[in-house]
Amino acid sequence: MITGERVTDGQFPLPRGRSVSRKKVILDCDPGHDDAVAILLALASPDELELLGITCVAGNVPLALTQKNALLACELAGARRTRVFAGCSRPMVRQLVTAEAVHGQSGLDLPGGKTLPEPGMKLEPMHAVDFIIDTLLTSPPGTITLCPTGPLTNIAMAMVREPAIVERIAEIVFMGGAAITPGNVTPAAEFNIYVDPHAAAIILQSGVPLVMMGLDVTHQALVTEKRKAAMRELGGRAARTVADLMTFYCAYDIDRYGMEGGPLHDPCVIAYLIDESLFTLKHVNVEVETASPLTLGETVADWWMITDRLPNCLVAETVDAPGFFALLSERLGRLR
Ligand code: RIB
Ligand code: CA
Repeated sequence: MITGERVTDGQFPLPRGRSVSRKKVILDCDPGHDDAVAILLALASPDELELLGITCVAGNVPLALTQKNALLACELAGARRTRVFAGCSRPMVRQLVTAEAVHGQSGLDLPGGKTLPEPGMKLEPMHAVDFIIDTLLTSPPGTITLCPTGPLTNIAMAMVREPAIVERIAEIVFMGGAAITPGNVTPAAEFNIYVDPHAAAIILQSGVPLVMMGLDVTHQALVTEKRKAAMRELGGRAARTVADLMTFYCAYDIDRYGMEGGPLHDPCVIAYLIDESLFTLKHVNVEVETASPLTLGETVADWWMITDRLPNCLVAETVDAPGFFALLSERLGRLR
């Protein structure tokens, strides 16, 4: 059992059921520009990932738009047979908070007020929560990895609706929270956790092996002008469109933080599943504030093992940013 030492090369006991072969994953998301890039990266990596389905949740923009944007991302990847499911339209307890300031009114705005065309793909008729439950109940225990990159509402609702799935989940690798980095939606909270802190609490207390890609690491994965130009030079429509999407998306964070680029949060989840050696992680205890008006949604990581709270989460601390963008560019280059 890891007791908090830094994990540098992935030589920690793999969470139960985790194999190093092709992983079966469900990507739960709220597209959102960075979610869309995560979808493209996953679809461009069939040797490492079997994407069983994409489940959509309200977050960056309302559900009607996140589900539409997920379809658009699949079409951009040329993956029109991908199964896409609509999930929860609001958090478990709170009212929905969205992020149009970052992603535009459509959730996938392009520069110059442009947007992508309407999708031709259709949603699956099943609710996303039911798809998550059914997939876990009909698959061998420990073979399914859940990859949420938005508020954790769908995952938590599935656990509440069918508790038997909890012990069957191999791992949850999620984008959300922060151990030592200030929040991005309040001084204390990261957006995904802030939108649905009650869902985050259910996941953090579930006992499922967790990997947290928080702001500590995603703020190291910056889409600089040079990296964006490299994407555009890949030549395919998908890569060019991603470069255009990044031009819109990065403006907010560059203006706000004065960074040299926009943080590419959600693809860190997929990159970890493809090559975890890109990251260093630390196994610590993480809990979430669900009541305080001042710090609602703050993820409190016991980074220095000060309390007796048991570690429950592998928290990503660093990423090999050049390696991350080399992987992303190589995979985007596979798409046309
Ligand atoms: O805080 C960043 C996260 O919130 C990303 O997942 C982004 O897409 C939004 O969902
Ligand atoms: Ca997201």
